[in-house]
Amino acid sequence: MFVNIKEVYENGYFVGKLDDLEFNLFKNIINSHFQNILKQNNIVFKDEICNYHNLDISLDKHKSMWPKENRILNYRDYKKFLETNFFSYLKSLFGSFEISDENNIGHPEIYFRIVRPYPFTDVTSLHSDSWFRHLGHGKMPEDCNSIKFWFSIYPPENSSNSKLGFRFVPNSHHNKLKYDKVFSDGIYKPVLDEKKNNIETISLKGSAGSFIVFHDDLVHGGEVIQSDTTRCSFEFSLWAKKESINNLIS
Ligand SMILES: [Fe+2]
Repeated sequence: MFVNIKEVYENGYFVGKLDDLEFNLFKNIINSHFQNILKQNNIVFKDEICNYHNLDISLDKHKSMWPKENRILNYRDYKKFLETNFFSYLKSLFGSFEISDENNIGHPEIYFRIVRPYPFTDVTSLHSDSWFRHLGHGKMPEDCNSIKFWFSIYPPENSSNSKLGFRFVPNSHHNKLKYDKVFSDGIYKPVLDEKKNNIETISLKGSAGSFIVFHDDLVHGGEVIQSDTTRCSFEFSLWAKKESINNLIS
C-alpha cells in the first residue's frame, strides 16, 4: 500500500486501496463488533452488515443502538489494527503518530459508520474536521497536525458509478469557508450553506477496501446512495508532528 501525504496537502486528498489481508482483518473485526452490539440489544441477526437495512427495527431503536460510543472499536481490537502492515507503514512514514481520542473514552478512537441505503438519509452533512475543534470539540497538541483516514468496508452494492457514499470538495482546504453552528447531541456542530457558498462536491468512487486520506480542512460529508445494501466505512484521525509532515511534503 502507499499513501502520498504531499498530495493530501496539495489537493486536499489522496485515494488508495488496502491490501486484501488488511481489508479482511478490518472487515472481520468490525463485523464481530457489530454482532456484539446487536446481541447486547437482544436482536438475532445472522447476517453481515451489508444486509442490516432488512432488519425490521424502528428509527429510535436504530439511533439508540448506534451512537458513536457504540461504534468505537475496543482497545483490544484497536491493538489488532495497529499490528497490521498498514499501520506499520504509517509508522515508517511519520516516525510516530497518535490516533485521536476526541470523545475522551480513554484510548485512541477507530470507529465505523453504518449507513442504510436510500430512502434512509442518515448521513453527515458537509463540514471540515477542523471546524469541530474550532467549535470546542476535542483538543490537539500544538505541535501536531491532524490527517483523516476513511475506508470503505462494505460499499453500496448496485449503486451508480461505484460511488462509496463519501463526497468532498477538492482543494477546499485552501479556502476559508464561513459556516454557522447548531447545538446538537450535546455539542456545537458546524453547518455549511451549500447554495450560498456555491459548493460543488465530487463523489468518492472505488470498491471494497478503497480509502481516502484527507486534510483536516477539506470540506467533506456523507452521500445518500440509492443501492441494494447498507454501506459501512471506518475512520480515524491521525495526529502527526508538524515537523515530520513538513519533511514528507517538502
Ligand atoms: Fe469529517
